[in-house]
Amino acid sequence: MALVTSTEMFKKAYTGGYAVGAFNVNNMEIVQAITEAAAELKSPVILQASAGARKYANSVYLIKLVEAAVELHPEIPMVLHLDHGADFETCKSCIDSGFTSVMIDYSGHSFEENIAESKRVAEYAHERGVVVEAELGTLAGIEDAVSVDADKAMFTDPDQVEEFVQKTGVDSLAIAIGTSHGAYKFKPGTDPKLRLDILAEVARRLPGFPIVLHGSSSVPQEYVKIINGHGGALKDAIGIPEDQLREAAKGAVCKINIDSDLRLGMTAGIREHFVAHPDHFDPRQYIGDGRKYVKDIVAHKIVNVLGSDGKA
Ligand code: G3H
Ligand code: 13P
Ligand code: ZN
Repeated sequence: MALVTSTEMFKKAYTGGYAVGAFNVNNMEIVQAITEAAAELKSPVILQASAGARKYANSVYLIKLVEAAVELHPEIPMVLHLDHGADFETCKSCIDSGFTSVMIDYSGHSFEENIAESKRVAEYAHERGVVVEAELGTLAGIEDAVSVDADKAMFTDPDQVEEFVQKTGVDSLAIAIGTSHGAYKFKPGTDPKLRLDILAEVARRLPGFPIVLHGSSSVPQEYVKIINGHGGALKDAIGIPEDQLREAAKGAVCKINIDSDLRLGMTAGIREHFVAHPDHFDPRQYIGDGRKYVKDIVAHKIVNVLGSDGKA
């Protein structure tokens, strides 16, 4: 199976009551970990590259790594997606170079500007068989490509979604219902609650339309403990409760974005390796241990959060 768009994937996910995982890729070991877990569990998967990933690895390497994964795991459908495309030019460059899906993230601009830029990307993409995700509402959090203070974050207004989708022609919509980017989402002892009521209202206004959740890492405490027990100094934080993501995946949410949890897994594996083997200096040994934990985390998400196992 070649790289596919998410059109069929999302149709099946919507009716099947599950979501497809969109995992961020930055290097070979991360691509391997994600696609090996997905292939073993017969799960569809979305591999997504941010601006930071494209800068770090070079887009050509990322595309070729994903092509290698497609060749090695022809039994599962895979999408290559641009995460948080900042503007038309970034999206165009990915569309022209083989991505099958792009996100135009104009959520930090006015509603009208968001409509205009998303429409422009959708027209260009659709003429070339590529699908488009856009975003309404603003998530809190800090990553290379995204930096929004918590007090500037805004839930998606369900009153805007029909007009936005109808005027832009985009294929899926990321909404803000209380998730946020990065590992430091909520303070321990708090009780994070996704606004599943907003999700339900959006779904009512857009029947059958695929919804996307960004910022959906759960910050697994066992990996935080491994990191901090092996020389790390991560601050206390908790993420999005997995049961709430599972609930969202049963409804209109067809794509769930996870990056920070993979970073924690990679870091835990490498730190543990260095403490156990201070004499090692072969990158294959320590990155290989990081890769194992990333694979374990992806497998856990597929089975326990997304429900996409056996759906390829
Ligand atoms: O949403 C952001 C992703 O976690 C990508 O992060 O921009 O640091 O690559 P990045
Ligand atoms: P996390 O930081 O919660 O993993 O979110 C990743 C994301 O939304 C990528 O677009
Ligand atoms: Zn995101």
